[in-house]
Amino acid sequence: MAVLHIVYSTSTGHTEYVVDALIAALRAAAPALTVEQQRAETVQAADILRGDVLLLASGTWNTGGSEGQLHPHMYALLKDRAKDCDLQQKPCAVIALGDDRYFYTARAMEHLMQFVTQHNGQVAESFVIVNEPYGQEEKVNKWAAKLLTKFPALAA
Ligand SMILES: Cc1cc2nc3c(=O)[nH]c(=O)nc-3n(C[C@H](O)[C@H](O)[C@H](O)COP(=O)(O)O)c2cc1C
Repeated sequence: MAVLHIVYSTSTGHTEYVVDALIAALRAAAPALTVEQQRAETVQAADILRGDVLLLASGTWNTGGSEGQLHPHMYALLKDRAKDCDLQQKPCAVIALGDDRYFYTARAMEHLMQFVTQHNGQVAESFVIVNEPYGQEEKVNKWAAKLLTKFPALAA
């Protein structure tokens, strides 16, 4: 059974809400699915290689003083602790959150994609949630179904 490893960061709880909704939708469709869920601040570089599929999820923040950046905990993980990590062609998926009141709306996506591609991973699927996730569950459900189609081993 393939393992989905989810690494996420959150301050307001929005990203966590999306990740939890995603897991619920995945489990409803694939009851035997194995998911490991970790907050970025608890993750060390070696953990990144744990699952068969890696899912990174981060909101967009003003980390370091300019907007359009990763959430601080995801930033510290990807730009520091895991900066030398080799994903060894691992299949990856990425989720970015943001708010359309900001100029660089949901730009965390670019940083997550860049991390995966620059560290020899393969971005297979990406998903963006703009503004509060509450009420956007149907979108999450649809993406969950897409993810299982892309990674049938997760549902096997
Ligand atoms: C200080 C601050 C800076 C933010 N900067 C951006 C930004 O540059 N671009 C964007 O799209 N959203 C920005 N946001 C909105 C968050 O990405 C959005 O509210 C997200 O849902 C937060 O989820 P999280 O707490 O799970 O990270 C910012 C929010 C705050 C509070």
